Amino acid sequence: MSIKGGSVQAPTDLKRRKFLVAATAAVGGAGVVAAAVPFIMSMLPSAKALGAGAPVEVDISKLEPGMMIISEWRGQPVWVVNRTPTMLAMLQKNDSMLTDPNSEQNQQPEYCKNATRSIKPEYMVLIGICTHLGCSPTYRPNPVAPDIGSYWTGGWLCACHGSRYDLAARVYQGSPAPLNMVVPPHFYLTDTRIKVGVDPKKGA
Ligand code: FES
Repeated sequence: MSIKGGSVQAPTDLKRRKFLVAATAAVGGAGVVAAAVPFIMSMLPSAKALGAGAPVEVDISKLEPGMMIISEWRGQPVWVVNRTPTMLAMLQKNDSMLTDPNSEQNQQPEYCKNATRSIKPEYMVLIGICTHLGCSPTYRPNPVAPDIGSYWTGGWLCACHGSRYDLAARVYQGSPAPLNMVVPPHFYLTDTRIKVGVDPKKGA
């Protein structure tokens, strides 16, 4: 799996990037936790609080443009992608091919019902679960993907039954998945720390 090439701005630290992207192949449970450990271990709430679905904090200070980081909330993978200006520019090309381009379905908080499905355009925060039958899609940010098609501008491919999502996690028409992937409630504690699992107005 590679995110190199095309017009996506490639990060400079290839080894590190491969590690982070490889982590996206993890489907859940221990794999997700292990992948997230280098970044979120010190911020995890207690096991008891986690069991109760407590919000989690995600450190995005090391998340370079084009990269994705994995955390976990309520036993679900939480993904944060740092979208480059090129990635963001390509989003609007997809609208006519998407099932719900304007996010009319209730798959995101009201404050993320916008063109980028996010609070800050560059940071996409989502629950990494396919809305078909719950597999965890693979991060495929490279817009050159012959195995998917010439229309591809980067996003996620669910290998289970072929659902495709763009880089705003909006599902393509013709996918078995009926809905865009979910954007969880979240807000920014600082420029580099996100709290996932609670809405901005409810505070930290
Ligand atoms: S679970 Fe993703 S396409 Fe079926």
